[in-house]
Amino acid sequence: MNVLRFTDLVAQGRVRDQRVFIRADLNVPLDATNRITDDTRIRASVPCIRMALDAGAAVMVTSHLGRPTEGEFKSEDSLAPVAARLAELLGRPVSLKANWVDRVEVKPGEVVLLENCRLNKGEKKNDAALARKLAALADIFVHDAFGTAHRAEASTYGIAEFAPVACAGPLLAAEIDAIGKALANPKRPLVAIVAGSKVSTKLTILQSLAAKVDGLVVGGGIANTFLLAQGLPIGKSLAEPDLVGEAKAVIDAMKARGAEVPIPVDVVCAKEFKADAKATVKAVADVAADDLILDIGPKTAALLADKLRAAGTIVWNGPVGVFEFDAFAKGTETVARAIASGEAFSIAGGGDTLAAIAKYGIEKDVGYISTGGGAFLEVLEGKTLPAFEILQRRAG
Ligand code: 3PG
Repeated sequence: MNVLRFTDLVAQGRVRDQRVFIRADLNVPLDATNRITDDTRIRASVPCIRMALDAGAAVMVTSHLGRPTEGEFKSEDSLAPVAARLAELLGRPVSLKANWVDRVEVKPGEVVLLENCRLNKGEKKNDAALARKLAALADIFVHDAFGTAHRAEASTYGIAEFAPVACAGPLLAAEIDAIGKALANPKRPLVAIVAGSKVSTKLTILQSLAAKVDGLVVGGGIANTFLLAQGLPIGKSLAEPDLVGEAKAVIDAMKARGAEVPIPVDVVCAKEFKADAKATVKAVADVAADDLILDIGPKTAALLADKLRAAGTIVWNGPVGVFEFDAFAKGTETVARAIASGEAFSIAGGGDTLAAIAKYGIEKDVGYISTGGGAFLEVLEGKTLPAFEILQRRAG
Protein backbone atom coordinates (compact mmCIF):
# COMPACT_ATOMS: atom_id res chain seq x y z
CA MET A 1 0.00 0.00 0.00
CA ASN A 2 1.43 3.33 -1.04
CA VAL A 3 1.31 5.41 2.12
CA LEU A 4 4.01 7.38 3.86
CA ARG A 5 5.16 5.45 6.92
CA PHE A 6 6.21 7.06 10.19
CA THR A 7 9.02 4.51 10.58
CA ASP A 8 10.52 5.81 7.32
CA LEU A 9 10.33 9.43 8.47
CA VAL A 10 12.12 8.43 11.68
CA ALA A 11 14.78 6.50 9.75
CA GLN A 12 15.31 9.56 7.52
CA GLY A 13 15.84 11.78 10.58
CA ARG A 14 12.80 13.93 9.69
CA VAL A 15 11.15 13.78 13.11
CA ARG A 16 13.62 15.50 15.48
CA ASP A 17 12.17 18.66 17.08
CA GLN A 18 8.97 18.26 15.08
CA ARG A 19 5.50 18.54 16.58
CA VAL A 20 4.08 15.06 16.06
CA PHE A 21 0.33 14.55 16.49
CA ILE A 22 -0.56 10.88 16.94
CA ARG A 23 -4.19 9.75 16.55
CA ALA A 24 -4.30 6.51 18.51
CA ASP A 25 -7.26 4.27 19.34
CA LEU A 26 -7.19 4.16 23.13
CA ASN A 27 -10.90 3.33 23.29
CA VAL A 28 -10.61 0.65 25.98
CA PRO A 29 -13.36 -0.97 28.03
CA LEU A 30 -13.86 0.46 31.53
CA ASP A 31 -15.82 -1.06 34.40
CA ALA A 32 -18.38 0.77 36.56
CA THR A 33 -15.58 2.22 38.72
CA ASN A 34 -13.74 3.52 35.62
CA ARG A 35 -11.04 0.86 35.81
CA ILE A 36 -9.61 -0.41 32.52
CA THR A 37 -10.63 -4.04 31.99
CA ASP A 38 -8.50 -4.67 28.90
CA ASP A 39 -5.48 -2.50 28.01
CA THR A 40 -4.61 -4.23 24.70
CA ARG A 41 -5.17 -1.07 22.65
CA ILE A 42 -3.02 1.06 24.97
CA ARG A 43 -0.17 -1.44 24.84
CA ALA A 44 -0.47 -1.65 21.06
CA SER A 45 -0.20 2.15 20.81
CA VAL A 46 2.98 2.43 22.89
CA PRO A 47 5.55 1.57 20.15
CA CYS A 48 4.54 4.55 17.99
CA ILE A 49 4.61 6.97 20.93
CA ARG A 50 7.96 5.65 22.09
CA MET A 51 9.34 5.84 18.56
CA ALA A 52 8.34 9.50 18.31
CA LEU A 53 9.82 10.32 21.72
CA ASP A 54 13.07 8.48 21.00
CA ALA A 55 13.33 10.37 17.71
CA GLY A 56 13.24 13.68 19.62
CA ALA A 57 9.72 14.84 18.72
CA ALA A 58 7.31 16.92 20.78
CA VAL A 59 4.52 14.38 21.02
CA MET A 60 0.76 14.93 21.21
CA VAL A 61 -1.50 11.89 21.41
CA THR A 62 -5.27 11.80 21.27
CA SER A 63 -8.04 9.23 21.04
CA HIS A 64 -11.75 8.95 21.42
CA LEU A 65 -13.24 7.07 24.34
CA GLY A 66 -16.77 5.80 23.83
CA ARG A 67 -19.33 7.90 22.04
CA PRO A 68 -19.77 11.05 24.16
CA THR A 69 -21.92 14.04 23.26
CA GLU A 70 -19.76 16.67 21.59
CA GLY A 71 -19.19 19.78 23.69
CA GLU A 72 -20.50 18.15 26.89
CA PHE A 73 -17.70 17.00 29.17
CA LYS A 74 -18.64 14.26 31.64
CA SER A 75 -16.06 12.66 33.92
CA GLU A 76 -16.84 9.16 32.60
CA ASP A 77 -15.76 10.30 29.12
CA SER A 78 -12.31 11.37 30.33
CA LEU A 79 -9.12 9.72 29.15
CA ALA A 80 -7.74 10.09 32.72
CA PRO A 81 -7.54 6.30 33.37
CA VAL A 82 -5.84 5.90 29.99
CA ALA A 83 -3.28 8.63 30.83
CA ALA A 84 -2.40 6.81 34.06
CA ARG A 85 -1.96 3.44 32.30
CA LEU A 86 0.01 5.01 29.46
CA ALA A 87 2.35 6.66 31.97
CA GLU A 88 2.96 3.26 33.59
CA LEU A 89 3.68 1.60 30.26
CA LEU A 90 5.96 4.40 29.05
CA GLY A 91 7.64 4.75 32.44
CA ARG A 92 7.27 8.52 32.32
CA PRO A 93 4.67 11.13 33.24
CA VAL A 94 1.83 11.70 30.78
CA SER A 95 -0.14 14.87 31.41
CA LEU A 96 -3.73 15.07 30.22
CA LYS A 97 -4.82 18.32 28.52
CA ALA A 98 -8.42 19.45 28.19
CA ASN A 99 -9.61 22.21 25.80
CA TRP A 100 -6.62 21.72 23.56
CA VAL A 101 -7.94 22.49 20.10
CA ASP A 102 -6.44 25.98 19.77
CA ARG A 103 -3.09 25.44 21.44
CA VAL A 104 -0.95 22.68 22.92
CA GLU A 105 2.28 23.35 24.76
CA VAL A 106 4.70 20.48 24.49
CA LYS A 107 8.48 20.36 24.17
CA PRO A 108 10.65 17.91 22.23
CA GLY A 109 11.08 14.74 24.29
CA GLU A 110 7.72 15.28 26.06
CA VAL A 111 4.37 13.58 25.53
CA VAL A 112 0.93 14.97 26.32
CA LEU A 113 -2.37 13.18 26.04
CA LEU A 114 -5.14 15.34 24.59
CA GLU A 115 -8.54 14.73 26.16
CA ASN A 116 -11.19 12.63 24.37
CA CYS A 117 -11.26 14.04 20.83
CA ARG A 118 -14.96 13.19 20.43
CA LEU A 119 -15.74 15.98 22.89
CA ASN A 120 -14.68 18.49 20.24
CA LYS A 121 -17.62 19.97 18.35
CA GLY A 122 -17.49 18.87 14.73
CA GLU A 123 -15.36 15.75 15.32
CA LYS A 124 -17.87 13.13 14.16
CA LYS A 125 -18.95 15.11 11.10
CA ASN A 126 -15.35 15.72 10.08
CA ASP A 127 -15.91 19.47 10.25
CA ALA A 128 -13.33 21.20 8.06
CA ALA A 129 -12.78 24.15 10.41
CA LEU A 130 -12.05 21.81 13.32
CA ALA A 131 -9.83 19.60 11.16
CA ARG A 132 -7.81 22.64 10.06
CA LYS A 133 -7.28 23.65 13.69
CA LEU A 134 -6.10 20.16 14.61
CA ALA A 135 -3.78 20.10 11.61
CA ALA A 136 -2.33 23.47 12.63
CA LEU A 137 -1.11 21.92 15.90
CA ALA A 138 1.20 19.53 14.07
CA ASP A 139 4.17 19.34 11.74
CA ILE A 140 3.54 15.63 11.25
CA PHE A 141 0.20 13.82 11.63
CA VAL A 142 0.51 10.11 12.41
CA HIS A 143 -2.57 7.93 12.00
CA ASP A 144 -2.00 4.94 14.25
CA ALA A 145 -5.63 4.23 15.19
CA PHE A 146 -6.46 1.07 13.26
CA GLY A 147 -9.59 0.50 15.39
CA THR A 148 -10.91 3.82 14.07
CA ALA A 149 -9.59 3.55 10.52
CA HIS A 150 -13.12 2.99 9.18
CA ARG A 151 -14.29 6.37 10.48
CA ALA A 152 -13.84 9.64 8.61
CA GLU A 153 -13.77 12.12 11.49
CA ALA A 154 -11.87 15.36 12.08
CA SER A 155 -9.07 13.69 14.07
CA THR A 156 -8.78 10.72 11.71
CA TYR A 157 -9.51 12.10 8.25
CA GLY A 158 -9.77 15.89 8.05
CA ILE A 159 -6.51 16.39 9.92
CA ALA A 160 -4.79 14.05 7.45
CA GLU A 161 -5.98 16.25 4.58
CA PHE A 162 -4.64 19.47 6.06
CA ALA A 163 -1.54 18.55 8.12
CA PRO A 164 1.82 19.45 6.52
CA VAL A 165 2.76 15.74 6.53
CA ALA A 166 0.38 12.79 7.05
CA CYS A 167 1.60 9.24 7.54
CA ALA A 168 0.68 5.80 8.85
CA GLY A 169 1.91 4.79 12.28
CA PRO A 170 3.46 1.37 12.89
CA LEU A 171 0.28 -0.19 14.32
CA LEU A 172 -1.89 0.97 11.42
CA ALA A 173 0.69 -0.30 8.94
CA ALA A 174 1.16 -3.64 10.72
CA GLU A 175 -2.57 -4.32 10.89
CA ILE A 176 -3.23 -3.79 7.23
CA ASP A 177 -0.11 -5.77 6.26
CA ALA A 178 -1.10 -8.74 8.46
CA ILE A 179 -4.77 -8.92 7.49
CA GLY A 180 -3.98 -8.31 3.82
CA LYS A 181 -1.35 -11.05 3.83
CA ALA A 182 -3.68 -13.56 5.51
CA LEU A 183 -6.48 -12.95 3.05
CA ALA A 184 -4.62 -12.36 -0.21
CA ASN A 185 -3.65 -16.00 -0.60
CA PRO A 186 -5.01 -17.90 2.37
CA LYS A 187 -4.10 -21.49 3.10
CA ARG A 188 -7.30 -23.52 2.64
CA PRO A 189 -9.66 -24.49 4.06
CA LEU A 190 -10.42 -20.91 5.09
CA VAL A 191 -12.91 -20.87 7.95
CA ALA A 192 -14.52 -17.71 9.33
CA ILE A 193 -16.33 -17.44 12.64
CA VAL A 194 -18.74 -14.52 12.69
CA ALA A 195 -20.68 -14.24 15.91
CA GLY A 196 -22.46 -11.49 17.73
CA SER A 197 -25.90 -10.40 18.69
CA LYS A 198 -27.28 -9.19 15.38
CA VAL A 199 -27.22 -10.27 11.75
CA SER A 200 -28.02 -6.68 10.75
CA THR A 201 -24.68 -5.32 12.03
CA LYS A 202 -22.73 -8.07 10.30
CA LEU A 203 -24.82 -8.76 7.21
CA THR A 204 -22.39 -7.28 4.71
CA ILE A 205 -19.46 -9.18 6.18
CA LEU A 206 -21.49 -12.42 6.10
CA GLN A 207 -22.39 -11.80 2.46
CA SER A 208 -18.85 -10.97 1.44
CA LEU A 209 -17.34 -13.92 3.34
CA ALA A 210 -19.95 -16.25 1.80
CA ALA A 211 -18.19 -15.67 -1.52
CA LYS A 212 -14.71 -16.44 -0.17
CA VAL A 213 -14.58 -18.88 2.72
CA ASP A 214 -14.88 -22.67 2.83
CA GLY A 215 -16.68 -22.71 6.17
CA LEU A 216 -18.73 -19.94 7.77
CA VAL A 217 -19.45 -20.54 11.44
CA VAL A 218 -22.15 -18.28 12.83
CA GLY A 219 -22.68 -17.79 16.55
CA GLY A 220 -24.67 -15.86 19.13
CA GLY A 221 -27.84 -14.07 18.06
CA ILE A 222 -26.69 -14.39 14.45
CA ALA A 223 -26.83 -18.19 14.76
CA ASN A 224 -30.37 -17.94 16.11
CA THR A 225 -31.50 -16.11 12.97
CA PHE A 226 -29.82 -18.84 10.90
CA LEU A 227 -31.63 -21.50 12.96
CA LEU A 228 -34.92 -19.73 12.18
CA ALA A 229 -33.95 -19.74 8.51
CA GLN A 230 -33.66 -23.53 8.74
CA GLY A 231 -37.15 -23.72 10.23
CA LEU A 232 -35.84 -24.60 13.71
CA PRO A 233 -37.41 -23.39 16.99
CA ILE A 234 -35.48 -20.77 18.99
CA GLY A 235 -37.96 -20.00 21.80
CA LYS A 236 -37.53 -16.45 23.02
CA SER A 237 -33.87 -16.21 21.99
CA LEU A 238 -32.43 -13.05 20.52
CA ALA A 239 -32.90 -13.07 16.74
CA GLU A 240 -33.97 -10.92 13.80
CA PRO A 241 -36.87 -12.72 12.07
CA ASP A 242 -37.02 -10.05 9.35
CA LEU A 243 -33.52 -11.08 8.22
CA VAL A 244 -34.31 -14.76 7.77
CA GLY A 245 -34.34 -14.25 3.98
CA GLU A 246 -30.82 -12.80 4.07
CA ALA A 247 -29.62 -15.67 6.26
CA LYS A 248 -31.08 -18.18 3.79
CA ALA A 249 -29.34 -16.39 0.93
CA VAL A 250 -25.99 -16.69 2.74
CA ILE A 251 -26.56 -20.42 3.31
CA ASP A 252 -27.52 -20.89 -0.36
CA ALA A 253 -24.54 -18.90 -1.63
CA MET A 254 -22.22 -21.08 0.42
CA LYS A 255 -23.93 -24.31 -0.73
CA ALA A 256 -23.67 -23.25 -4.36
CA ARG A 257 -19.88 -23.01 -3.93
CA GLY A 258 -19.66 -26.40 -2.21
CA ALA A 259 -18.98 -24.61 1.10
CA GLU A 260 -21.02 -24.81 4.28
CA VAL A 261 -22.56 -22.89 7.14
CA PRO A 262 -22.54 -25.47 9.96
CA ILE A 263 -25.84 -25.22 11.82
CA PRO A 264 -25.76 -26.26 15.53
CA VAL A 265 -27.04 -29.74 16.34
CA ASP A 266 -27.37 -28.97 20.05
CA VAL A 267 -27.55 -25.84 22.17
CA VAL A 268 -27.37 -24.75 25.82
CA CYS A 269 -30.59 -23.11 26.98
CA ALA A 270 -31.81 -21.22 30.03
CA LYS A 271 -35.10 -19.71 31.05
CA GLU A 272 -33.50 -16.40 32.08
CA PHE A 273 -30.52 -14.31 30.94
CA LYS A 274 -28.56 -14.59 34.19
CA ALA A 275 -25.11 -15.83 35.20
CA ASP A 276 -26.63 -18.33 37.65
CA ALA A 277 -29.54 -19.43 35.44
CA LYS A 278 -29.87 -23.21 35.11
CA ALA A 279 -28.12 -24.38 31.93
CA THR A 280 -29.77 -27.22 29.98
CA VAL A 281 -28.29 -28.92 26.93
CA LYS A 282 -30.91 -29.68 24.28
CA ALA A 283 -31.00 -31.08 20.78
CA VAL A 284 -31.57 -28.14 18.49
CA ALA A 285 -35.06 -29.33 17.50
CA ASP A 286 -36.16 -29.51 21.16
CA VAL A 287 -35.86 -25.83 22.10
CA ALA A 288 -39.02 -24.84 24.01
CA ALA A 289 -41.10 -21.70 23.55
CA ASP A 290 -39.77 -20.16 26.79
CA ASP A 291 -36.10 -21.09 26.20
CA LEU A 292 -33.22 -18.72 25.58
CA ILE A 293 -30.33 -20.19 23.59
CA LEU A 294 -27.16 -18.93 25.30
CA ASP A 295 -24.46 -21.22 23.90
CA ILE A 296 -23.78 -23.98 21.41
CA GLY A 297 -24.01 -27.49 22.84
CA PRO A 298 -21.11 -29.92 23.39
CA LYS A 299 -21.76 -31.96 20.21
CA THR A 300 -21.79 -28.82 18.08
CA ALA A 301 -18.67 -27.51 19.82
CA ALA A 302 -16.84 -30.80 19.14
CA LEU A 303 -17.88 -30.75 15.46
CA LEU A 304 -16.68 -27.16 15.08
CA ALA A 305 -13.43 -27.92 16.91
CA ASP A 306 -12.71 -30.68 14.34
CA LYS A 307 -13.33 -28.27 11.47
CA LEU A 308 -11.12 -25.61 13.06
CA ARG A 309 -8.29 -28.04 13.71
CA ALA A 310 -8.42 -29.06 10.04
CA ALA A 311 -8.45 -25.46 8.76
CA GLY A 312 -5.55 -23.75 7.00
CA THR A 313 -6.64 -20.22 7.90
CA ILE A 314 -9.15 -19.01 10.49
CA VAL A 315 -10.70 -15.58 10.78
CA TRP A 316 -12.38 -15.12 14.16
CA ASN A 317 -14.81 -12.37 15.09
CA GLY A 318 -17.13 -12.96 18.01
CA PRO A 319 -17.75 -15.49 20.79
CA VAL A 320 -20.28 -18.25 19.99
CA GLY A 321 -22.10 -17.99 23.32
CA VAL A 322 -22.52 -15.81 26.40
CA PHE A 323 -18.99 -16.63 27.53
CA GLU A 324 -19.07 -13.99 30.28
CA PHE A 325 -21.35 -16.43 32.20
CA ASP A 326 -19.39 -19.60 33.04
CA ALA A 327 -22.37 -21.91 32.51
CA PHE A 328 -22.63 -20.69 28.89
CA ALA A 329 -18.91 -20.34 28.12
CA LYS A 330 -18.00 -23.89 27.11
CA GLY A 331 -18.78 -23.43 23.41
CA THR A 332 -16.54 -20.37 23.13
CA GLU A 333 -13.83 -22.06 25.21
CA THR A 334 -13.87 -25.17 22.98
CA VAL A 335 -13.65 -23.00 19.86
CA ALA A 336 -10.83 -20.92 21.38
CA ARG A 337 -8.83 -23.99 22.39
CA ALA A 338 -9.31 -25.59 18.96
CA ILE A 339 -8.00 -22.43 17.31
CA ALA A 340 -5.07 -22.36 19.73
CA SER A 341 -4.13 -26.01 19.27
CA GLY A 342 -4.61 -26.23 15.49
CA GLU A 343 -2.10 -25.61 12.73
CA ALA A 344 -4.11 -22.87 11.02
CA PHE A 345 -2.91 -19.30 10.73
CA SER A 346 -5.55 -17.47 12.75
CA ILE A 347 -6.48 -13.82 12.85
CA ALA A 348 -8.85 -12.51 15.48
CA GLY A 349 -10.45 -9.13 16.05
CA GLY A 350 -13.23 -7.39 17.95
CA GLY A 351 -13.57 -6.43 21.61
CA ASP A 352 -15.45 -9.55 22.76
CA THR A 353 -13.10 -11.82 20.85
CA LEU A 354 -10.10 -10.20 22.52
CA ALA A 355 -11.78 -10.66 25.90
CA ALA A 356 -12.35 -14.37 25.13
CA ILE A 357 -8.73 -14.77 24.03
CA ALA A 358 -7.60 -13.17 27.29
CA LYS A 359 -10.01 -15.29 29.37
CA TYR A 360 -8.58 -18.53 27.98
CA GLY A 361 -4.98 -17.27 27.89
CA ILE A 362 -4.40 -18.17 24.24
CA GLU A 363 -2.84 -14.87 23.11
CA LYS A 364 0.41 -16.56 22.05
CA ASP A 365 -1.40 -19.22 20.03
CA VAL A 366 -3.37 -16.84 17.81
CA GLY A 367 -1.50 -15.89 14.63
CA TYR A 368 -2.50 -12.23 14.66
CA ILE A 369 -4.69 -10.30 17.07
CA SER A 370 -6.17 -7.16 15.56
CA THR A 371 -7.02 -4.13 17.69
CA GLY A 372 -9.91 -3.35 15.33
CA GLY A 373 -13.57 -4.18 15.78
CA GLY A 374 -15.63 -2.56 13.02
CA ALA A 375 -12.43 -1.66 11.16
CA PHE A 376 -11.30 -5.30 11.20
CA LEU A 377 -14.63 -6.39 9.72
CA GLU A 378 -14.53 -3.75 7.00
CA VAL A 379 -11.04 -4.81 5.94
CA LEU A 380 -12.26 -8.42 5.78
CA GLU A 381 -15.09 -7.24 3.55
CA GLY A 382 -12.47 -5.92 1.17
CA LYS A 383 -13.32 -2.25 1.70
CA THR A 384 -10.72 0.50 1.46
CA LEU A 385 -10.97 2.26 4.80
CA PRO A 386 -11.03 6.09 4.89
CA ALA A 387 -7.71 6.15 6.78
CA PHE A 388 -5.93 4.37 3.97
CA GLU A 389 -7.72 6.29 1.23
CA ILE A 390 -6.59 9.67 2.59
CA LEU A 391 -3.07 8.54 3.47
CA GLN A 392 -2.65 7.10 -0.02
CA ARG A 393 -3.91 10.36 -1.52
CA ARG A 394 -1.45 12.36 0.59
CA ALA A 395 1.39 10.07 -0.45
CA GLY A 396 0.49 10.24 -4.15
C1 3PG B 1 -14.00 0.43 18.28
O1 3PG B 1 -14.12 0.26 19.49
O2 3PG B 1 -14.34 -0.41 17.43
C2 3PG B 1 -13.30 1.67 17.80
O3 3PG B 1 -12.68 2.34 18.84
C3 3PG B 1 -14.27 2.56 17.05
O4 3PG B 1 -15.25 3.04 17.90
P1 3PG B 1 -16.62 3.60 17.30
O5 3PG B 1 -17.36 2.40 16.76
O6 3PG B 1 -17.32 4.27 18.45
O7 3PG B 1 -16.26 4.55 16.19
